Amino acid sequence: MQDKSPTRMDSASFDTLWVEAAGAEKFQRRIIRRHVGDLPPGEVLVRVRYSSLNYKDALSASGNPGVTRHYPHTPGIDAAGEVALSASLDFKPGEPVVVMGFDLGMNTPGGFGQYVRVPAAWVRKLPEGLTLWESMAIGTAGFTAAICAYRLEEYGLRPGSGELLVTGASGGVGSFAVSILARDGYSVAAATGKPEQYAWLERLGGKPIDREEIDDRSGRPLLSGRWAGGVDTVGGNYLATLLRATRPGGCVACCGNAASPELHLTVFPFILRGVALLGVDMATTSPEQSAELWRRLGDRWKPQHLDEMARTVPLAGLDAEIERILRGGQAGRVVVSLEN
Ligand SMILES: NC(=O)c1ccc[n+]([C@@H]2O[C@H](COP(=O)([O-])OP(=O)(O)OC[C@H]3O[C@@H](n4cnc5c(N)ncnc54)[C@H](OP(=O)(O)O)[C@@H]3O)[C@@H](O)[C@H]2O)c1
Repeated sequence: MQDKSPTRMDSASFDTLWVEAAGAEKFQRRIIRRHVGDLPPGEVLVRVRYSSLNYKDALSASGNPGVTRHYPHTPGIDAAGEVALSASLDFKPGEPVVVMGFDLGMNTPGGFGQYVRVPAAWVRKLPEGLTLWESMAIGTAGFTAAICAYRLEEYGLRPGSGELLVTGASGGVGSFAVSILARDGYSVAAATGKPEQYAWLERLGGKPIDREEIDDRSGRPLLSGRWAGGVDTVGGNYLATLLRATRPGGCVACCGNAASPELHLTVFPFILRGVALLGVDMATTSPEQSAELWRRLGDRWKPQHLDEMARTVPLAGLDAEIERILRGGQAGRVVVSLEN
């Protein structure tokens, strides 16, 4: 295939987070300067202004081979900025754009660097109703929460169906799920391990509950039907408890495994209550669905206090945030500023 990368800026240098192996199963992170010419080929060169921290970025930044196969590497699955150079007629220099998903930040240098160079098919014009910063405050986490809400609606749930449960509610995906579902008029229980975030979750429209309440160890295959369904970001026994306590005809969107990838339960919730388990994988969203979700995120699903849902840190402050998200201690979202 012909290399259509614009190369005019190849000698320009920029700051980037650099993750490299440092002995047996050890990885170290530092900020280095690289040249645009070091980036892989791609039709669009983007000057990144903001990125955001997702759980997957923390895995990539700590050497997880399930996310990133080859190091050294620059993580960052989200990036927003302006087109610097473009060999595609679809994008003009200076145009504000967002790059999310595909291979960005996994095995392609990602948004924790001031430039990314990617195929034009990975680039989307900045969605209407959002600034660059706002698009990253939402980022992969908010977009995934939007897919979950969309899938529940598509399945037939409505605000009158009954209360929904969101697990990992203080996390990136969880807090957006609480906010979006509450904005749509659902009654939302927000399960969290962080009592100090109760007041914030209430402001988002949720009813906070201790996550221990949804960690049932009784061994009963079915629990009394409490929820019309929900959004699960943590997996393991929390998801199993939610499914066992979902009412007949309800459904649960499952998107994460922050607690565990395991799921132990009987088939009874499915065959005796007709409960549905909807798998959510951001990567399989169609372009049409993606356009609709961004339209809603820039409009009726945009959190009223988006500025309260994310903190902004410079590249130099990212290391501590990576450690925090790996410990399950993150609340809301972290936007990474690549200005300077
Ligand atoms: N399927 C997809 O396409 C897709 C897309 C994006 C993300 N994800 C996945 O979704 C999950 C959440 O991502 P995120 O970016 O929102 O991460 P995050 O910000 O770290 O949120 C995860 C939340 O889960 C809870 N948690 C963490 N460890 C736990 C444990 N050991 N036991 C119980 N609860 C725990 C915590 O919330 P509380 O303290 O409030 O309980 C934490 O804040 C991850 O597994 C991620 O890989 C999947």
